[in-house]
Amino acid sequence: MCSSLDGPGRILGPLGLAEKRLRREPAALQEGGPAGAGAGGALKRTPGRGLLVGMCDARQYQLLQPRPVRGQSPVNGYQLLDFGAGRRLERFGTFVADRPCPTAEGLAKAEPEAWAAADARFERDEPRKGEWLRSREPPDPWTVGHSAMTFELKLTPQGQVGFFPEQADNWDWIRERVRAGAAAGNPRRVLNLFAYTGGSTLAAAAAGAEVVHVDAAKNIVAWARRNAGLSGLEARPIHWIVEDVRKFVRRELRRGSRYDAVILDPPSYGHGRRGEVWRLSKPLAGLLAACAELTGGRPRFVLLTCHTPGFGPDRLAAMTREAFGDDAFASVDAGPLVLTSASGRRLPAGTMVRTAGPFRRSKAPLVSPGRTG
Ligand SMILES: C[S@@+](CC[C@H](N)C(=O)[O-])C[C@H]1O[C@@H](n2cnc3c(N)ncnc32)[C@H](O)[C@@H]1O
Repeated sequence: MCSSLDGPGRILGPLGLAEKRLRREPAALQEGGPAGAGAGGALKRTPGRGLLVGMCDARQYQLLQPRPVRGQSPVNGYQLLDFGAGRRLERFGTFVADRPCPTAEGLAKAEPEAWAAADARFERDEPRKGEWLRSREPPDPWTVGHSAMTFELKLTPQGQVGFFPEQADNWDWIRERVRAGAAAGNPRRVLNLFAYTGGSTLAAAAAGAEVVHVDAAKNIVAWARRNAGLSGLEARPIHWIVEDVRKFVRRELRRGSRYDAVILDPPSYGHGRRGEVWRLSKPLAGLLAACAELTGGRPRFVLLTCHTPGFGPDRLAAMTREAFGDDAFASVDAGPLVLTSASGRRLPAGTMVRTAGPFRRSKAPLVSPGRTG
């Protein structure tokens, strides 16, 4: 997976700038510049890896320092440094990653010179696959934290790192909702579907919920379990399920299982445990209807997030209301997920629907079983 950054046709844009600097300022090539390795440190060559990216002047150094992010729950060790031209530049601890970002298409980079600090750059060669071109390996262990949660990071073949920072506000919200429910003496059994590396699971479990965590990928569920361990939550009542979401939900309906809240983060496209194809556009309505039934039409909360073009706040809110019944909720809050960059620019990063309830005055109609796509 790892390629030379200066192989034919593989040179990173900003490298030319870095190279010019190399010729002009040999002193800047000392290892461990002010921002340290991987955060704009010195240029160096590693056998078999080609010329490594990294330069640092005072302006870049400042860019790479953590700063409070407006309107966004801070993640310890994470910062969106810049975005534009279909890409995002992010710092995860001491490691800087440059990767594709469809919502940054057609936007100009605000800090073009900062991109030379990238330690790894993801190049997509197929719609869902690609390659990380790296100037150095990430630290080991490589983690970021949010409140009491710790997440292990990895460069994955899909261009992800195992962590969606735009979800941090939602994790805070989940914790508050579970705590509020506990204070009111309500049961707290939470179903987390497409649960990935477990951010929402850990937030709910940390607040005292029993969580059923469902994801089709065995290695991803193992990763989520490691995150639970890193976060000191391994002894909490979390049920780790490797299964296709629709199959699991159908089984739960047959068993007559009940949940108090549901969290869903469906991908645009994915696979179940045995290769079952998931395309968000078709089965989402049926899946939401099944979740309505599993919560008896009276969920304490629903959190639905997605990153799929065409599924904006209005559409997702309408689908949620339709599945659960118009009077199932006291309120439905729908809007964009947003990441704020170091310079205060806002990058759209998906859509979320959060409901509060249940609405107590009338009974919402239950949806008939079997509508899970
Ligand atoms: C968290 S979601 C995607 C997050 C984000 N909304 C996005 O679109 O990039 C991805 C997770 O869903 C899981 N997944 C995809 N299809 C699935 C299915 N049919 N059943 C269970 N999990 C599935 C994947 O294994 C992965 O961990």
